[in-house]
Order: sequence, then C-alpha cells, then structure tokens
Amino acid sequence: MGFRELAKRAVEERGSPIILALDLAPEKPSKLMRKAMEVLEETAPYLCGLKINFHLILPLGLSGVKPLLDRAHQLGLFCLADPKLSDIGSTNEVAARYYFEAGFDALTASPLVGWEKGLAPVFKLAREMGRGVILLAYMSHPGALEIFGLRALDERSGLEEPLYARFAKMAVEWGADGVVVGATRPEVIRAVRAVVGPEMLVMSPGVGVQGGDPRMALEAGADFLVVGRSIVLADRPGEAARELLARLRLSTGS
Ligand code: XMP
Repeated sequence: MGFRELAKRAVEERGSPIILALDLAPEKPSKLMRKAMEVLEETAPYLCGLKINFHLILPLGLSGVKPLLDRAHQLGLFCLADPKLSDIGSTNEVAARYYFEAGFDALTASPLVGWEKGLAPVFKLAREMGRGVILLAYMSHPGALEIFGLRALDERSGLEEPLYARFAKMAVEWGADGVVVGATRPEVIRAVRAVVGPEMLVMSPGVGVQGGDPRMALEAGADFLVVGRSIVLADRPGEAARELLARLRLSTGS
C-alpha cells in the first residue's frame, strides 16, 4: 500500500483528520523522550498521524525517535518527518534514506529545488521504498507571502501564474502523495485543491497558535490538519486533542 492510501485509510478508520506535530520545548533528552511518549499516548485516540520535526530529531537523533515511531505505528498512526528537504539531489537522497530507514512513512520537501538533481532522487527512493513525499505549496506563516505569493513566469509556456499554483502542478507532474497548504489561507487551499484534484492529500498546518480556523481549512479542501502547540503545550494535551476533534465532528456533523 502506498502512503496516500495508508493516510486515507488512517483518517477513515480513526475518524480523525488530526496529525499531531509533536513539537516539545527544549529539555534534557531523557525528559523529552518521557514527555513525548506521554503526549503521544494520551492524544493518540484523537489522531490519524504523527509528525516529528527538529524539536525531537535534533536532541534525540533518528535512532532516539524510533521508539516513538514504533509506538505510533502500533497505535495505528502514520508517521511523517518534516525536514522540508531543499538541497541538491545527492544530499536530499541521503537525508531521505535516513528518514525512511528510521521508519518514517513520508517526508516533506520543498519544490523550490526543482526536479532534475533536486527532488528527482527523493521521489525515486520513496517509490522504491514504498514511502511518501509531501511537497510544500504555500506555508502557513505570514512571511510565506513573500515567496509563495509571488507570480511566476513559466519561460517554456510563457504563462504567468501564482507560484503556489505552479507548485501544485509540480506536485501532480512529479507524482507527489500530497501537498502542504497553510490553514491560515483557506482561499489558497481551495485554489490548490482545484489544481491537484480529489486524490492528492492536502495537509494543513497553522491551526490554533498561528490563527488558522480548522473548520474553514477542511471546508476549503484540506484532508488533514497538522496541529502542534495548541495541543502539545496545553496543560492536558489529551483533553485538548479530544476537544478539537469533538468540535470538528460537531461542525461537520460526522
Ligand atoms: P503549530 O504549533 O503551529 O505547529 O500548530 C505546526 C507544525 O507544522 C509545521 N509547519 C509547517 N510544515 N509547511 C510545513 O511543511 C508549513 O507551511 C508549515 N507550517 C507549520 C511546523 O514546523 C510545526 O511543526
């Protein structure tokens, strides 16, 4: 089963579109690990996936986060690494191999490096190993406007279009499993969904602390909400995740 199918199945079976960004504040590695495991255990019933970023990978290392990935898989969650790969192909490939061998089901990458000797080796490796690649289309922070909001001229076709629309087309051409569009820009989610079609996974971070409205992001076409600090830094993360899911179910009537 490819990543796209795995992720879709997880949402359906678990009845939740929430991917937890397990972004803990800096701590001693032993404390971090204990806390990360606690948060995972108490939030898991309300999630479909787990996303791990530098907050844990830098202090714990890839072998250090492996028990978290193993436990998340046991609990029925998929695991996403979020390095936003953006180097030359040979370097991207080495990094991707480490992430996949550690047990991640998919990783994020930046389309800014292009295909040839950029992301092509990452897609090839992902296909060989049966893993996923998720491309950035429009990030969630305010400064994203400065790049992702630009208009781009395609010199081959002479066509001008928003850069995010170009990234969405690249995701389709390259066979990406999904795209990331910030929940802070529901109108862009809608525009990207129109380009990528119904099968592509659309993942939307930026809910809660960054101000995105989860319901609007889903209505605009997101399949997944990537949620970090508003759950992880809550006094009771399990309760925060449960409440978010209950609000979503109430508003969608599911
Ligand atoms: P918060 O605490 O804001 O965490 O709920 C969000 C998580 O998602 C990551 N993030 C992004 N990842 N494209 C991505 O690939 C984005 O536009 C984006 N915005 C936020 C962020 O690093 C954190 O882990």
